[in-house]
Amino acid sequence: DWSMAAFREEATRRIREQVGQGRVISGLSGGVDSSVASVLIHEAIGEQLTCIFVDHGLLRQGEAEQVVTLFRDHYNIPLVHVDAADRFISELEGKSDPEEKRKIIGRLFIEVFEEEAAKLGGADFLAQGTLYPDVIESVSFSGGPSVTIKSHHNVGGLPERMKLRLVEPLRELFKDEVRVLGRELGLPDSFVGRHPFPGPGLAIRCPGGITREKLQILRKADAIYLDEIRKAGLYDAIWQAFAVLLPVQTVGVMGDSRTYEYVCALRAVTSTDGMTADFYHFDMSFLGRAANRIVNEVKGINRVVYDVTSKPPGTIEWE
Ligand code: XMP
Repeated sequence: DWSMAAFREEATRRIREQVGQGRVISGLSGGVDSSVASVLIHEAIGEQLTCIFVDHGLLRQGEAEQVVTLFRDHYNIPLVHVDAADRFISELEGKSDPEEKRKIIGRLFIEVFEEEAAKLGGADFLAQGTLYPDVIESVSFSGGPSVTIKSHHNVGGLPERMKLRLVEPLRELFKDEVRVLGRELGLPDSFVGRHPFPGPGLAIRCPGGITREKLQILRKADAIYLDEIRKAGLYDAIWQAFAVLLPVQTVGVMGDSRTYEYVCALRAVTSTDGMTADFYHFDMSFLGRAANRIVNEVKGINRVVYDVTSKPPGTIEWE
């Protein structure tokens, strides 16, 4: 893509000019925006950038490994992988209020990130994958002059507290342009085309009290569902698809014994910006296949339902 090649060159030039000899840290979430921003900044300033990946233990199956492999092995970008799962999950255990979950996750994220940045000896700049729509959104919501943090990253206040200046090389781009830039930078299609994933991760797909066991059950069901979606060639036609583990147990039958296990809800929507969405119209045979596999392969789930609510009035997530 010619224009994206030109953008890439201009953006790296601007990053070098802004940063000079300064040190930059970047919070990697595993998502497309923070990944593309980090790869671009690394191209501009090399080892002056260190990425910090706070792994909160609420990612999907295999996701943390993918991020680490991509950055360390493929790009050779300095990456601190903080396995903070125990810390996050022990504070979340038993918590069921969605906003309380988000607050806990946001606070711990900042704590862990600050600790790791201090271990690195501090930095001058914080890299963020802010996009144009985020800039617009924060302006219209806050009206404030320094529109900086993507609210959904749950890191509000971090740059001010740490006295960091922001490097936001994607500020002029829309999501689809970020994907083009990602491909231009050599990020694999499987990574660039990923569905959006919320910062609080599986914590908000586990309504009711969170436990390690429930997260493990949810992770397995979600992986099977996405595997079936990919096999059916539907992944790219869907905006987001995921499993939700309901805090409800129902009766089932397995062989000649009665079971009493959790209900799993499946969600899939089409959308262009996440603001409105339609539920995805799967073939019933697809849903039957996914449900069968989940009930047969995941201990702890004996019933599967499909969410046919659009947004509005529903939201995409269940919490
Ligand atoms: P809703 O559920 O509000 O979701 O229809 C719209 C989009 O936002 C994502 N989402 C979040 N992303 N932190 C995030 O980073 C959050 O707390 C959060 N809540 C919702 C959701 O996945 C969808 O893409």
